[in-house]
Amino acid sequence: MAMQDKVRELLELRTKARLGGGEKRIEKQHSQGKMTARERIAMLLDEGSFEELDMFVTHRCTNFGMDKEHPLTDGVVTGYGTIDGRLVYVFAQDFTISGGSLSEMHAAKICKVQDLAMKMGAPVIGINDSGGARIQEGVNSLAGYSEIFERNILASGVVPQISAIFGPCAGGAVYSPALTDFVMMVKNTSYMFLTGPKVVKTVLGENVTTEELGGASVHGSKSGVAQLVVEDETEGIAMIRRLLSYLPSNNMETTPEVECTDPIERVEDSLNAIIPDNPNKPYDIKQVIASIVDHGEFLEIAPMYAKNIITGFARMGGMSVGVVANQPSHMAGVLDINASRKGARFVRFCDAFNIPIVTLVDVPGFLPGTAQEYGGVITHGAKLLYAYGESTIPKVTVTLRKSYGGSHIVMGCKQLRNDVNYAWPTAEIAVMGADGAVEVLYAKEIKAETDPQKQMEAALAKKTEYNNLFCNPYNAARYGYIDDVIEPRNTRYRVIKALRAIQTKRLENPAKKHDNLPL
Ligand code: HXC
Repeated sequence: MAMQDKVRELLELRTKARLGGGEKRIEKQHSQGKMTARERIAMLLDEGSFEELDMFVTHRCTNFGMDKEHPLTDGVVTGYGTIDGRLVYVFAQDFTISGGSLSEMHAAKICKVQDLAMKMGAPVIGINDSGGARIQEGVNSLAGYSEIFERNILASGVVPQISAIFGPCAGGAVYSPALTDFVMMVKNTSYMFLTGPKVVKTVLGENVTTEELGGASVHGSKSGVAQLVVEDETEGIAMIRRLLSYLPSNNMETTPEVECTDPIERVEDSLNAIIPDNPNKPYDIKQVIASIVDHGEFLEIAPMYAKNIITGFARMGGMSVGVVANQPSHMAGVLDINASRKGARFVRFCDAFNIPIVTLVDVPGFLPGTAQEYGGVITHGAKLLYAYGESTIPKVTVTLRKSYGGSHIVMGCKQLRNDVNYAWPTAEIAVMGADGAVEVLYAKEIKAETDPQKQMEAALAKKTEYNNLFCNPYNAARYGYIDDVIEPRNTRYRVIKALRAIQTKRLENPAKKHDNLPL
């Protein structure tokens, strides 16, 4: 064959590969509101930056007539490119070829980009759209999944891993996304479950739809499996790009710093009036976050799950920060099992990737009751405590209002190697609230009063005494547990100054094989 013919052959093969499973299947994909694997990658990466790998890979299966067709790419498009000029590795399953199902060679392609990403220290973004294990390939498919999972595990904490679920993701296939740092789901077109509605019906006799069992709203709000839920793929892809802008490419790098065009000394007078006079009245902590971070821009992680704690990324003075904040407007900002898990996972991610944490505290305590205790709130609460305590990143905590007992300790107190602890004048830092304290200390004395009016007066006097002594920031400041009591409107300036000062923090944990986080 002459050289020109060989080039033509190459170009024809490329065109064929780019067509995936063919026009008809592409049309079906589009008609479901889904993009193709290649369209997704093109939108995700900087224009023209995609370099595809393994376009000519085909499966090696001969069962069930599989030897008759060998579609190029084997149902997954893989390679690398850039996002805002920074290297990333990607794979996108192509539903138009065998339903994006995972074969031995399909898995090998994903493993190749995972290995390259680890060597190069670059994030991996996986776009999932697959019918699961390639049924015809049997155990080779299971082996392929296992190879991917192992690499997910080894890459954890080394390079950021983001999973977008843009279609089906069922059976054991869910475990690759579950092992990554962030799972994104698209409303209505994606679902994740270990066992589908048919099996649920057979085993449990329950009727449940795909959406009810594993749709985006279920995993975004009930299970917490998906931290990012989007309306459509376009929004999802933009969000992945935005998320990456806050992250370093690997655990050896510091976070990308951008020029800050929001004045760092910007004062926010509204913060001097945001805490209601009545301590039981809520306010929205997101208003505080928005007013102290650069341009009010906040990328919330898991916004619909455990709404009593807020987690997300922002910039302060151009520096990336992870924000953790109690939310008084949901369940009074109490810590429970789900909030502890959500907060702990976020803090650990930030610690793994050198992202400083800003903690805003207004927490009345841990949620009491049998449901929480039976569910193991002790262990789950310990996760958040552990996450703060083991972290070596720069940490600034601001206590706005309540900070009681165990929850005071857990939420980035000084002794958990926190670097700077500020409090607003409205802070109440104590072992417990006045009602409980007076009940424990003075119940007998108060009951000794026979006149109910006098009983009330005695209780009130004790509560006032307790409040005066403890429910303020100055008692903690007296011992140096709070570094300074700051005017709320200056919070942005003070936190940024603190963050700048502690940027060079060096802290090492004792050498160990690995820790034993309370799971
Ligand atoms: C091989 C598959 C496949 C699979 C789909 N296809 N899933 N081929 N292995 N797992 C093929 C179909 O035969 C079809 O081929 C094409 O992909 C599109 O599938 P449709 O069924 O036409 O699409 P749709 O109606 O949209 O339904 C999508 C679906 C359904 C709900 C995902 O395909 C489905 O139920 N698939 C099987 C899911 C499953 O049970 N997977 C195995 C789970 S066990 P043609 O040629 O007609 O286009 C598992 C274990 C993993 O995954 C363990 C890991 C540790």
